[in-house]
Amino acid sequence: MRRFVMFSLLVPFTLVACDKAGVSDTAALGPSDEELLAAIDGYETWSNAPSWPGISAGEGPHGAFVQIWWNDLALDALSAGDAELPVGAVLVKESYADETGATLNNVTVMWKAEAGEWTWARLGADGAVADAGALSSCSECHASGKDFVRSESW
Ligand code: HEC
Repeated sequence: MRRFVMFSLLVPFTLVACDKAGVSDTAALGPSDEELLAAIDGYETWSNAPSWPGISAGEGPHGAFVQIWWNDLALDALSAGDAELPVGAVLVKESYADETGATLNNVTVMWKAEAGEWTWARLGADGAVADAGALSSCSECHASGKDFVRSESW
């Protein structure tokens, strides 16, 4: 069923993607903007990553100040010590210009939309999806973390 849905979404998405400047080929295989926005809906009400309470100093390229949320499915797998986060796990990170969090730079997302595979996405400060899919620019750096996760080790 999932395969069928993906196939029917792929054709219109590819046409849209061709109109967007700078969208990589892999991004054409990603979810629609609507699917992605539905997956992260209400993330500000989720729990922060346990090691990253509130606005925290970032260690990576995402900016000096970040806030990271995990949905319940992801947190349950973390507590259970599962080797991989399950399908439906979503991790969202906002990065800010300073420690007040008043100015949002962007939002990045990791979504386990398919078994064994993360969907990566980047949204602008206006909430519009800039890029989504199997983005190697993200996964290459994240590969050093357990199941590609950098904010927690377990
Ligand atoms: C050069 C390394 C690097 C690259 C490239 C990178 N990240 Fe990250 N990412 C990190 C680190 C380190 C963290 C831990 C939090 C921090 O220090 O900001 C992180 C945290 C995250 C988190 C919070 C969940 C987690 O894994 O800890 C998300 C979501 C995320 N990144 C998404 C992305 C996306 C989407 C891209 C590509 C657009 C990307 N990242 C590119 C290093 C990277």
